[in-house]
Amino acid sequence: IDLPCTAQGGNSRVEWKFQRGSSLALVYYNSKLTDNYKSRVELYPTGIRFKSVTRKDTGTYTCEVINAAGDAFLSVVNLVVQVPPSKPTAKVPTSATIGSNAVLKCIESDGSPLPTFTWYKDNVLLPTNPKASPLFRNSSYTIDEKTGVLAFEPLTGFDTGEYHCEAKNGVGSGQKSEAIRMEATELNVGGIVAAVVVVAIVLGLIGFGVWFACSRG
Ligand SMILES: *[C@@H]1O[C@H](CO)[C@@H](O)[C@H](O)[C@H]1NC(C)=O
Repeated sequence: IDLPCTAQGGNSRVEWKFQRGSSLALVYYNSKLTDNYKSRVELYPTGIRFKSVTRKDTGTYTCEVINAAGDAFLSVVNLVVQVPPSKPTAKVPTSATIGSNAVLKCIESDGSPLPTFTWYKDNVLLPTNPKASPLFRNSSYTIDEKTGVLAFEPLTGFDTGEYHCEAKNGVGSGQKSEAIRMEATELNVGGIVAAVVVVAIVLGLIGFGVWFACSRG
C-alpha cells in the first residue's frame, strides 16, 4: 500500500504520524522509520509504502513537511484495512420470563471496518420495527445494528424460537452465528403461591406467640 505525501519535496524535513482514535504514533521521525514500522515500511520521495498491513493499521496518516524557512505543510491520508467478519457468537438466554426484559447479544471481533448486525428468528429476518410487520407485531423489541444488541422490552409468549445473528461489513460475505433456542416462560405461579403460604404461616405463628405471651401476663 502506497500512502502519498503531496506536501513532500525539496530540501525539507519530513515526519509521518499515525492516529487511531486517541492513540498517536510516529512512523517516520528524525530521518528514521520508527521501530514499529522499519521492518515493513519504506520511505520514497513521494510517500511511504507498507509491505504488509493488518487491521490495526486502519487510521489516519499525516505527513508533515517543514521547509528551510520553517513553514509546515500537512498531507493527510485515511487508510481502511479491510478484513471480512468472522463467524459471530450469539449470546441468547435459553429461557426468560414473559413480561421481563430479555437481552440478546451478537459478538464479532475481527471485521474491519466494524460490522453491522442483523437478527433472525426461526430463519426469518427480524424487522427493525416489529409493530410495522404482520409477523412480529405481537413482539416489543429494539435492535441496535451497531452493537448487535436485540432487547425484548418486555418479552411476550410469541417470542419463543430459534435465534441467530449475522455480521456484515461489506468485505467478503456476511457471517452467521449458530442458532440458539430461547423459551419464553410463564411466571412461576406455583412458586409465588408457596411463598405466600409460607409468609401466612410465619405471620400466624408470630400472632399466636403474641397472644400466648399476653394471655400469660
Ligand atoms: C398476535 O396475537 C393475536 C391475538 O392473541 C393472535 O391471534 C395472532 O395469531 C398473533 N400473531 C402472531 C403473528 O403470532
